Amino acid sequence: MSILPFPSFLDDIKEKGLKKAVFEGIDEVMERLTAGMNIQDVREALRGEAPTRKPNPRLTPHADGFWLHMRPSYFHKDMTGLYPTFRLGWLSAYFVFFETITGMLLMLWYTPSPDAAYGNMLAILSNVPLGQLMRDLHRLGAEGMVLIVWLHMLRTFLTGSYKKPRQFTWFTGVVLLICTMFLSFSGYLLPWDQLALWAVTIGASMIEATPPPIVGQTLNLLLRGGPDIGANGLLRFYLLHVLAVPAVLFVFFGVHYYKVVIHGFSLPPQKENIGEDTAKRVPLDKRVYYIPDILTSEIMWIAVTTFVLVVLCIWFFHAPLENHADSQVTPLGTTAPWYFLWIQGALKLGDKVFWGIVFPNLVIVLLMVYPYVDTQISRRYAHRRVAITLCALFVSIMTIFSYMGLAEYGVNTSADVEVLHELVMEPAHSHLGIIRPVPFDELVPGIYTTEQIRLEREVHPDDFATDFADYGTRIQENGDAARMLDFLSRVQHLSLPGISLRAVPAASEHLHNVLDRFYEMMEHERLELRNGTGYIIITAPQPNLIRVDVVVLWEEVLLRSGHLALDANGDSIPRFWEVNEDGSFVLDEAGRNIIVDEPIPLLDASGNPVLDENGVARTLTVPVERINSQFIYLHRNAEYFHRPGGN
Ligand code: HEM
Repeated sequence: MSILPFPSFLDDIKEKGLKKAVFEGIDEVMERLTAGMNIQDVREALRGEAPTRKPNPRLTPHADGFWLHMRPSYFHKDMTGLYPTFRLGWLSAYFVFFETITGMLLMLWYTPSPDAAYGNMLAILSNVPLGQLMRDLHRLGAEGMVLIVWLHMLRTFLTGSYKKPRQFTWFTGVVLLICTMFLSFSGYLLPWDQLALWAVTIGASMIEATPPPIVGQTLNLLLRGGPDIGANGLLRFYLLHVLAVPAVLFVFFGVHYYKVVIHGFSLPPQKENIGEDTAKRVPLDKRVYYIPDILTSEIMWIAVTTFVLVVLCIWFFHAPLENHADSQVTPLGTTAPWYFLWIQGALKLGDKVFWGIVFPNLVIVLLMVYPYVDTQISRRYAHRRVAITLCALFVSIMTIFSYMGLAEYGVNTSADVEVLHELVMEPAHSHLGIIRPVPFDELVPGIYTTEQIRLEREVHPDDFATDFADYGTRIQENGDAARMLDFLSRVQHLSLPGISLRAVPAASEHLHNVLDRFYEMMEHERLELRNGTGYIIITAPQPNLIRVDVVVLWEEVLLRSGHLALDANGDSIPRFWEVNEDGSFVLDEAGRNIIVDEPIPLLDASGNPVLDENGVARTLTVPVERINSQFIYLHRNAEYFHRPGGN
């Protein structure tokens, strides 16, 4: 007899023997865990055999268990192939959980403060075990989720699954779509790097455009927690990302899923009579039970997806991390994340309020109400030509707008900025400024010029030294050198004691390559950078630290309606400063040089053109000269010198 007041496992052993008692014990545990299936039932299911026990034990987990009560116990045979669902709803659901799990792991190592966030990211990438993998998975998963949810919407539209009685399912789906996009977007800011700050600044300033101004300003303040994104903004985006948006998403996920189960998965349109909905009336011979067929196929799908994500993140994809956020430095060509490019593209069409606010909201409202407006009952493709055409139009417009949203489209960055950028670009951008990997010892102080490359290519090597020296004298005389040094000392605070123009030393092969590339770029842009010359000025303010100034000098050219004005030879036409006859500048009331678009002939007292020593008519003007420069500091121990792929 048991010493306990109820029968114990020991009693079982005494009564049935050890083996049988242990076996029955395990069986019972299994039955409890699965809410109804014992080991024999599980084995049969996994082997694909019919159940031997009656009534069918594979239905009890659906009736008695928590997790499976929300899954249908059987599906229609026609719904088990890839078509019509393409498993996109299931994959969307998978991503919700995948993102939650990877996100929670990242949360352990993250503090939403501008002081800490970027450092946290570096720690995640370097110190946290599997930190980089988790971050990459979370980022790739977020983008994958946006894509899959859009595709799921597309498929439910094409199969007409949004029609009665599933209009509300579709409606809740649109809410899920918005949540998905905002989840991805709000996460963008959290690394607190340049990409984050500027992509989110673009997004937030769109919201600021909401009319009337008081609403726009209030929304902007609410979102950013101040006129600009700072500590408050980061905290707000963090809370949106981990709390508010997921909360709405989980509620609507529940409602969406509940509706899907209540109505059943809609059959392929051609398998039903027009106007009928037989999803819930599955004849016995058409039933495929959830356990084991659907369950194993679902597990297979998520296993394959996880595998693909992991492989991608290990070998091909790393979530970007640029330099620390800096509200003073606007990177070139910042765009919103790709899934918001369509709005950025639309904005290029004109009015900020219409294209940035009214249009996206209109798209959302149209999507939400569409099932209630489209009352045509047939789900057959042939009967839905208008709807399918509208859908194709919608997808095309979104694609075109997204293309227009790219930085390359419709935004002209001036050539000088592009050339400078190419040379000194920050290491965390997709490219590395070509000057950064030049070995430290090659960066000998001096002023180097692209003119050297031109002479090397155009004159005989024997004449190079003389011609190069002539060039040096010329720029001293015509004031280019003085103008450049004046600009550098006033604007860039660079003093140049004892530094002079020189040819690149023979040992500085990489520096020579950079100068060569610099020359090529200037040549490529020669229409916009008329008579342009590039300079690389290297100074050494401290031992082991050098400063590299990249300077571009050129003559400004005429633009007509945003395009370069060209003469009959296809050369760009310079703009001019107007000068008085005595050579002084003509100034406007504010004391600025008056710029004229075409040169004015200089006439003598009798009204005849004044000719110069070459017999060419002199004009009253001189071309407008422009100068732009950027500088970087490089330390001997900087990582770029060891970076693979540098030239
Ligand atoms: C996080 C986002 C979403 C999740 C997790 C989700 C999940 C699901 C799942 C699991 C199904 C079952 C059928 C299937 O696998 O295709 C389903 C069906 C459906 N979903 Fe979604 N969905 C999401 C977003 C959307 C969106 C954006 C829409 C459309 C605007 C939408 C509209 C529908 C409709 C109409 C059905 C019924 C399909 C049928 O009965 O054949 N869902 N959803």
